[in-house]
Amino acid sequence: MRSTLPAHLSIVTTCVAGALLACSAPPHEPGATPDPEVDPLSLLEAKDQNPDPHVFETTLDARVEELEVLPGTTTPVWTYDGGLPGPLIRVAQGDRLIVHFTNHLPEATTIHWHGLRIPNDMDGVPGETQPEVEPGGAFTYDFVVPDAGTYWYHPHVNAAAQAGFGLYGPIVVTDPAEPPGLGKERVLVLSDMTLEDDGTPVDPASVQGGGDFAALFGREGSPLLVNGKVNPVLSARSGERLRFRLINAARSRYFNLGIDGQMLTRIGSDDGLLARPESLATVLVASAQRADIVLDLAQPPSTEQVVSWVAYDRGFGSHEFRKPENLFTIRTTDDAPVTPPPLPALERDIQPLDVSAATPQSLSLTQNNEADAIVLGINGVPGSRAEPVMAMLGETQVWTLTNTIDWDHPFHLHGFFFQVLEVNGVAPSVLEWRDTVNVPVEGTVRIAVQFDERPGMWMFHCHILDHAELGMMGMVHLHASP
Ligand code: C2O
Ligand code: CU
Repeated sequence: MRSTLPAHLSIVTTCVAGALLACSAPPHEPGATPDPEVDPLSLLEAKDQNPDPHVFETTLDARVEELEVLPGTTTPVWTYDGGLPGPLIRVAQGDRLIVHFTNHLPEATTIHWHGLRIPNDMDGVPGETQPEVEPGGAFTYDFVVPDAGTYWYHPHVNAAAQAGFGLYGPIVVTDPAEPPGLGKERVLVLSDMTLEDDGTPVDPASVQGGGDFAALFGREGSPLLVNGKVNPVLSARSGERLRFRLINAARSRYFNLGIDGQMLTRIGSDDGLLARPESLATVLVASAQRADIVLDLAQPPSTEQVVSWVAYDRGFGSHEFRKPENLFTIRTTDDAPVTPPPLPALERDIQPLDVSAATPQSLSLTQNNEADAIVLGINGVPGSRAEPVMAMLGETQVWTLTNTIDWDHPFHLHGFFFQVLEVNGVAPSVLEWRDTVNVPVEGTVRIAVQFDERPGMWMFHCHILDHAELGMMGMVHLHASP
């Protein structure tokens, strides 16, 4: 099987014996923000200001902050609370999350809580579920977090540009029943930015930003970032079990992650654990998707290896002649290797949705150029002019997503989990809940979704945010009666 996979990684192993004790990451208390001097992968962490153990109440301020992204330069980054990425929000399943949001950006914005099954009026879609939050304005998000898993938050106004300038942050919803022994957890937010050598961001709306053709391809920036850092070093002990919660927060870039000489156990994806773990050489994380992986670090003590970004073929021009790029480096301490205990059993009861009486919907992902503009759409119509897809509370639907154009589309439905029934006629090997599925070039994906009792207008769109802005979006009108 390995030979059919794209070459995914280059490895650089260097002996750095004896120099590394100071680099091992210290343990830190939950809720405390670790010292980035010591751990370059540390994330800002949201602080709970509410004494009730089941209410997590915090503030979040969107503002531009000068940060060092490219070493030796500064960049005006669009941030939540001054962080790139924004603060990690860590709550337990069933907790109530209250976020007092303020906007100090130069333009309007909102927050979308990607993947969370929350009430419609908390979903962050301007003009549909809430008004835009103007500069100087505020909005309080307040909802119960129903499902464990790895999620993220990002703006839903001018999203390709705003996320491209740095606006996104991670959410981890813990499952109190999860067995111990899954390893030392690292939340890794994967992204990119388009910066000039002096750190100046390239405005996608400028000529240099590439216009509609760059958007049609989907802008991939440079540098690559892991938790906002360029090629950070992750320090670990040989043999140690690590758990990576990967979040692809890039506007367009796909990450197909592999570590040479190392199998990865994928235990979860967009919306919590898989029905059962699976062992893989590489894990594809398309834009907006998440992957929860566990690995027992098969790397000798006192070595370094570079984990590379390797081009995934997501369509025309996306992988030809593209070299691997450094993503992050794993450096092992000189401690003798440890042998972790067997992985705990991780079965999750996911029943296949009953689709025998499901309402079919056909959504063709299309390109229809108009006058001088490139227009993407669904069934030939851009989102701005489309009629909503109708659905009734409690109804199960099967959507057939057909990609008629030359690039993959990571298709995202707000507010609901779905099951992938087939990709090009083939059922996935393991049952899982997703909110974003990759629809390959000229391919067909069938998904099943059961709408619940949360009426409203729910958005769906391609999560190559440039494609969404060219029109590849639509709405589900979830309502009570026909
Ligand atoms: Cu990450 Cu409209 O979504
Ligand atoms: Cu797309």
